[in-house]
Amino acid sequence: MPLGVFDSGIGGLTVVRALRAAFPRRDILYVGDTARVPYGNKSAETVQTYSREITDFLEKKGAERIVAACNTASALAVGVLARTKKVPLHGMIESGVASALAAGDGPVGVIGTPATIASGAYQQALAKARPGLKVVAQATPLFVPLVEEGWLEGEVTEKIARTYLEPLIREKIRVLVLACTHYPLLKGVLGKVLGPHVRLVDSSEACAASLQASEGERKEKGELKIFLTDEPGPFLGRVESFLGKGSVGSVERIHLPYG
Ligand code: DGL
Repeated sequence: MPLGVFDSGIGGLTVVRALRAAFPRRDILYVGDTARVPYGNKSAETVQTYSREITDFLEKKGAERIVAACNTASALAVGVLARTKKVPLHGMIESGVASALAAGDGPVGVIGTPATIASGAYQQALAKARPGLKVVAQATPLFVPLVEEGWLEGEVTEKIARTYLEPLIREKIRVLVLACTHYPLLKGVLGKVLGPHVRLVDSSEACAASLQASEGERKEKGELKIFLTDEPGPFLGRVESFLGKGSVGSVERIHLPYG
């Protein structure tokens, strides 16, 4: 039985990459909502509607559990959808919070899309798990387009990172949660700006580590099927930057709502 994974676009392939490393024999069905990306500046209602359509599609395709790789969908939609879904639905927040707390004491920074940060989901989950913990949250909207353009380092990216992270540095954060699919690709620059004493929590790795997925049927290697809601062509060149090198079984265009 395959594992369903979805994101607003192809950034969630960072999570697929971590899941494939953790569960190499599992088949994965991935939906990237490339026709409607980004989610990070949309309302909760809209993100819930999109997420419902995608999870319905993945259920119909036989996913036995579904991971919302998109932090914005995790913050705005997973709680609501999990109440009505038959298949288990996992978001990125619980595992990200657990990893952040395990990473050390001291103030925790959280960076994400405007919608993720405005939802307060990470801030509330951290406060609940460790009352009194200082949490500094910062929306970093320019990071997604920088990653999409492949500007993973260099003067401009570093300057933007310094500007965004300045309030977090002032509060002496010790841990930074990368609460967005795209941010693992900026680890180099973020580490440079923050210094070695700040631990970076990659939510894709945290999610894979926390999932208790079974190995599924005995195969040498699980397959990856990618479904995109817009013409796949323009996205294919960037798949490898998120997914790493490795075979993509197939890429298919779909229309939502499905069926
Ligand atoms: N996938 C989104 C997230 O992790 C980032 C891109 C978007 O805004 O849709 O929050």
